[in-house]
Amino acid sequence: MRRPLIAANWKMNKSISEAKEFTLRFLPSVSGIRDADIVIAPPFTSLFAVADKLAGTNVELSAQNAFYEEKGAFTGELSPLMVKDAGCNYVIIGHSERRQYFQETDEIINKKIRACQKHGLNVIFCIGESLAERESDRTNDVLQRQILNGLNEVDAQQLIVAYEPVWAIGTGRTATPAQAQEAHQFIRAQLAKIYGVHADSIRIVYGGSVTPENVDSLMACPDIDGSLVGGASLNPESFERIVKFKRRTT
Ligand code: PGA
Repeated sequence: MRRPLIAANWKMNKSISEAKEFTLRFLPSVSGIRDADIVIAPPFTSLFAVADKLAGTNVELSAQNAFYEEKGAFTGELSPLMVKDAGCNYVIIGHSERRQYFQETDEIINKKIRACQKHGLNVIFCIGESLAERESDRTNDVLQRQILNGLNEVDAQQLIVAYEPVWAIGTGRTATPAQAQEAHQFIRAQLAKIYGVHADSIRIVYGGSVTPENVDSLMACPDIDGSLVGGASLNPESFERIVKFKRRTT
């Protein structure tokens, strides 16, 4: 049985005081939850402040990105060591917004994943097809390419895959549970080609317009092991409801 992982991706939202306020409101509401990993990914400026509030709780901290070098002349970048130092034990790598707006290629993403794993960070590796790719029946080809290139020489330990169809991100248009399950099953089969039986223990989480209203039906799917939540994670009550999704009975 894979342990569910529910992660909040705040993207470029919240000031330091807003991040602290969210955390103080959210923490007591989920303090009793022991059967899922709960993760918050604030913007870089709030990492340290949020880490301080999360210390000793059941909620963990993630960065939204990290560069692959350890240190040096890379103006504007942060290394895996730095995000770890700020209190993160997770990092999101390869988000479609990084691929689209910051020209991150599969090769760059692969280097980032390996560097982050080397420094003990759990990597949430994002993949997903665009609308044009889905409509031209290229979803599986795209997922396969992203997996093969992104995971070249990557360890199955400390790896979480996030399936985030680009057409569902921030659009209010969620993949149906059937569409998501089909993609997750395909992803798991690709992971099995690389990792053999270990693919069974890799968590594959869904992201793309997850809300309190649709989380239960998505989480009921056998290959959906959690969710990466953008918009609906900005409000503590809405993210609380998502973390408290209806547990499977089997
Ligand atoms: P969304 O974003 O929930 O706002 O669609 C998800 C994500 O991009 O991780």
